[in-house]
Amino acid sequence: MIRVSQLVKYYNGLKALEDVSFHVREGEIFGLLGPNGAGKTTLVGILTTEIKPTHGTARIKGIDVVNDPLAVKHLIGVVPQHRSLDRKLTARENMLVMARAYGIKNPRKRAGDLLSLVGLADRAEGGIREYSGGMLQKLLVARALIHDPKILFLDEPTLGLDPQARIAIWEEILRLKDEGKTMILTTHYMEEADRLCDRVAIMNQGKIVKEGTPENLKKGLKVYGLHSREPTLEDVFINLTGGRLK
Ligand SMILES: Nc1ncnc2c1ncn2[C@@H]1O[C@H](COP(=O)(O)OP(=O)(O)O)[C@@H](O)[C@H]1O
Ligand SMILES: [Mg+2]
Repeated sequence: MIRVSQLVKYYNGLKALEDVSFHVREGEIFGLLGPNGAGKTTLVGILTTEIKPTHGTARIKGIDVVNDPLAVKHLIGVVPQHRSLDRKLTARENMLVMARAYGIKNPRKRAGDLLSLVGLADRAEGGIREYSGGMLQKLLVARALIHDPKILFLDEPTLGLDPQARIAIWEEILRLKDEGKTMILTTHYMEEADRLCDRVAIMNQGKIVKEGTPENLKKGLKVYGLHSREPTLEDVFINLTGGRLK
């Protein structure tokens, strides 16, 4: 579904991505893990056609993200890290703005259905200024689904949420997986990655330093005898990134 090959990104002199390659299979949740500044958002930005790579290629279902961004946009939904919602509008109005951008038929019904799906139907007409962080995040997920994309990008979807709201978003993500969506999820919460992701890539300073299933990464650490207890994904992460969690 997604194939990334030798991506490099420079911002002026700063190297944000260095030779990043990986692929994601249909129906997988693929985690991009890494401390702040590792390059996760830059990588998601390139895959979602918002940022141009300096070198390298990325294809979504065989379509090059640089050559045909419009075709890519129809295949993907994006839950961005910045909460790009219009605070002056209601939840339903925010949905309708996106529905119009995609030329959705019957936009009112589609918006209503998706708001029900994420449990916001009874707050659809209220302003979103009063929304909690968890509600805003659910609204972003609903909005990303407006054109029924096969692939979803979620950039730190639970950042700053309380434990209850975080679990609600996890349940939403797992429900979407059951529906057959392919997802790329960035996070620096290792527990989240361990619970949700089929495979993860651990990034540090613009490079992928390790890739595999959470199970295999944890097993790999045990081989080196670093821990007397069962290693967690966080142990693997700290071992690879020198202890920088954020
Ligand atoms: N628009 C930009 N201009 C210049 N530097 C940037 C820009 N966006 C990100 N960077 C830099 O690129 C690096 C990777 O950032 P980012 O992709 O946001 O990482 P992450 O999402 O993992 O925190 C960081 O050093 C960051 O400061
Ligand atoms: Mg980021």
